[in-house]
Amino acid sequence: MTSEWWRTAAIYQIYPRSFADSNGDGIGDLPGVTARLGSLQSLGIDAVWFSPFYTSPQKDAGYDVADYCDIDPLFGTLADFDAMLEEAHARGIRVIVDLVPNHSSDRHVWFQAALAAAPGSAERARYLFRDGKGATGELPPNNWESVFGGPAWTRVVEADGNLGQWYLHLFDSSQPDFDWHNEEVREEFRRILRFWLDRGVDGFRVDVAHGLVKAEGLPDWTAAEGAGSMGGAGGEGVPLEPEISTEPGDAPPYWAQEGVHEIYRDWRKVLDEYPGDRILAAEAWVDPLSKVAKWVRPDEMHQSFNFAYLETPWKAAALRKVIDDSLDAFGSVGAPSTWVLSNHDVVRHATRLAVTADNPQGHGLGPRSKGIPEYATGVRRARAATALMLALPGSAYLYQGEELGLPEVIDLPNDVRQDPTWFRTDGERYGRDGCRVPIPWEGDVPSYGFGPSDASWLPQPAQWAELARDKQEGVAGSTLSLYQAALRLRREHALGSGTLVWADALGAGLDVPADVVAFRNGDVLVVANAGTAAVALPAGEVLLASNELGAGASGSSLPPDTTVWLRA
Ligand code: NOJ
Ligand code: CA
Repeated sequence: MTSEWWRTAAIYQIYPRSFADSNGDGIGDLPGVTARLGSLQSLGIDAVWFSPFYTSPQKDAGYDVADYCDIDPLFGTLADFDAMLEEAHARGIRVIVDLVPNHSSDRHVWFQAALAAAPGSAERARYLFRDGKGATGELPPNNWESVFGGPAWTRVVEADGNLGQWYLHLFDSSQPDFDWHNEEVREEFRRILRFWLDRGVDGFRVDVAHGLVKAEGLPDWTAAEGAGSMGGAGGEGVPLEPEISTEPGDAPPYWAQEGVHEIYRDWRKVLDEYPGDRILAAEAWVDPLSKVAKWVRPDEMHQSFNFAYLETPWKAAALRKVIDDSLDAFGSVGAPSTWVLSNHDVVRHATRLAVTADNPQGHGLGPRSKGIPEYATGVRRARAATALMLALPGSAYLYQGEELGLPEVIDLPNDVRQDPTWFRTDGERYGRDGCRVPIPWEGDVPSYGFGPSDASWLPQPAQWAELARDKQEGVAGSTLSLYQAALRLRREHALGSGTLVWADALGAGLDVPADVVAFRNGDVLVVANAGTAAVALPAGEVLLASNELGAGASGSSLPPDTTVWLRA
């Protein structure tokens, strides 16, 4: 019998380069993580997911992998990984690693061999090399655009010194896409899965899990204006890895092709050979949720990220709908719903939920951006949103630093920005650096305790001294205390494995105002006020409140942007 721990787990995302630096070079590393695992144990999470730490030229912060079975010297060694894993397991924390199967780095030996080999060779057949169009092949093979901006094709110089074929890269030109129709590629990834499973990892977060297979013939694709496709103009909520349209026959030829599912069924068999409940979690930016559920059918992956939830504004009706849709969609295939508000690709939710101007996902915020909220407003809303999320049945993902209430860093100087999005759009889109700034541990020391020196690969704002972990630890009302209490209560009241009943269906005479989200999960009544006026608070013992409660005409009231958990 297995525990199926993943159905209810709170999973904390570690972004290795920004978590903790052990040697003072300004970049976080594995020994840094190991030394700080105690803080995650006391936070009360069940598992960590590591963004990539593999050998990589770091053109896309490690999502450009040159060797899938080794650790980049920036982050340490395989021995450092083993030590971290042992320490995490000793503390009861499971470890999920990132698998990047859509593309490798251009420094991967296979791609170097492909460049050296001739068109039509077995070496080139591991990637998507094609002849160009036009009289001399001077035009790209099709019109696809990179998610990071610019064309999705780059032309190579052949051995004879002449310009030759083109290769496909849905992301940066340093990230060539594999050809997943090639059995050699499939076998190599089975080997990589086994390499990490043998080392003892508890699972994989699968990067771009909707993109591996491209439609036969690589047909041109022009997204409808504002449709949120990579070629589109980009309206509100356009994701970094765009959603596919819900219209039949209207899906981009590079996302959500049927063929991807066969790959995950195959991987599931590999995982099932291993003892101990190992998991696959999909990063699939697909719309709608009923389609995302295909990734977590019983013989495929265990979890899929819920980006529809992440993209929902702080509005009661929209929240109720996305919660219903999520529970329906994932429930229909017997999978748990997941929930997430922040990660390393999106504007931190302590800023995002209160931004008053459009900011398409993946475009980022910077000095030119409009509608940046006051910190107090943003963090208040973020705390309410997190308290709501952690009361939902299923599995929740947290992103490092959100437990400190960190906001997006808006004022990074241009010359420190590193996201390929910034370079590929000539600075038009700020990209994702603002959510990747190294996190503060101790408020009164250099780099706020991120490392032993004052070095930090992205500069930390002065305001972060106050937000450092040691300034919040044990402080009533701090964001850290709220997260610790919510995670403890979530476990004590078994909320992850509970069932949601909307308050208006309880029939207890509960009057739910339009701007309020209210439900019962087991013995906990959750009420979130997403409106602008205080509302009456139902009677009951307060277990958790995301902010101070107010005094109303007939007792306590629930102020705007506040969530409360009551004993039902
Ligand atoms: C999704 C990752 O989360 C993102 O950071 C990365 O840039 C792309 N996939 C490409 O690997
Ligand atoms: Ca370091």
